[in-house]
Amino acid sequence: MRRIGVLTSGGDAPGMNAAIRAIVRYGIYHNIEVMGILRGYKGLIENDMKAMDLSSVADIIHRGGTVLGTERSEEFKTEAGLKKALQTLKYRDIHGLVVIGGDGSFRGAEVLSQEGIPTIGIPGTIDNDLAYTEYTLGFNTALNTILDAIGKIRDTSSSHERSNIIEVMGRDCGDLALYAGLAGGAEVVVIPEETVNTDEICEVIMRGKARGKKHSIIILAEGVGSAFDLKDEIKSKIDIEIRCTVLGYIQRGGTPTAYDRLLGSRMGAKAVELLMNNQANLVIGTRGSKIFGQKINEALRMEKEFDIEAYRLTKILSI
Ligand code: F6P
Repeated sequence: MRRIGVLTSGGDAPGMNAAIRAIVRYGIYHNIEVMGILRGYKGLIENDMKAMDLSSVADIIHRGGTVLGTERSEEFKTEAGLKKALQTLKYRDIHGLVVIGGDGSFRGAEVLSQEGIPTIGIPGTIDNDLAYTEYTLGFNTALNTILDAIGKIRDTSSSHERSNIIEVMGRDCGDLALYAGLAGGAEVVVIPEETVNTDEICEVIMRGKARGKKHSIIILAEGVGSAFDLKDEIKSKIDIEIRCTVLGYIQRGGTPTAYDRLLGSRMGAKAVELLMNNQANLVIGTRGSKIFGQKINEALRMEKEFDIEAYRLTKILSI
């Protein structure tokens, strides 16, 4: 393995830069050249890349986003796009590839593996929606960003004696909403994995009011629907003041937490180590304190387990 490539693809996530830095430095330490492919699979198709040296990754460990840029490439999903990507890899003499991204990016990595390119995936997404790993890179930072917002919204909700619906990202996965709700002391968490009807939400709000609560915080996962629709539904049943906050892209940016920097660094190094040992077509995961590799095809077909205990606890603690 003389030369490898690294790309970031799909939605960016805090900690991606820590992973890029680790891949470049761990590679150079082991006499491997690292090419930084720009704008995800699009850069691979268009042969847009640069050789990375030690200083190209200086001062990035603490920065959100990705210094390589990222895109969701539709062209890569076509036969012509794949062909161009394979040509680039051959032309650039790249013998292994690290793809940092979510499940869509991993599907691309799986295709490249099937075409004989040793590929390793690093799970970079704030959504935490990949079943094979306990955590994805960026999830912890996004969770802390949401908690910060909950604290601020609670202050003003309390002063005005209002309810507030906070809509968070996560695509079809409720993890950001669930764990932010539990850690942030929300009254109600609404997630795609569990059905909750509007009557139940109204009951929790009114019960809280009856015992003197000055506010209530409802965390809504975007996978369920819009905060404004939920507000209308609640307002049609009870006469209370409700405001909506859609947190949006602030959840995707910002300086990565210590956890995400450590995870990115460890996963980046592990990816290069696996390629050096001729182990490929794997995605890196974490469970407990372990960092491991799992076959891409297996990982993509696993079903995510829902943390029902965390959900039950959120309900119990919000009485
Ligand atoms: O997958 C990460 C994510 O931030 C999701 O939580 C969200 O639904 C989506 O990306 C937004 O995508 P885009 O950047 O294309 O608007």
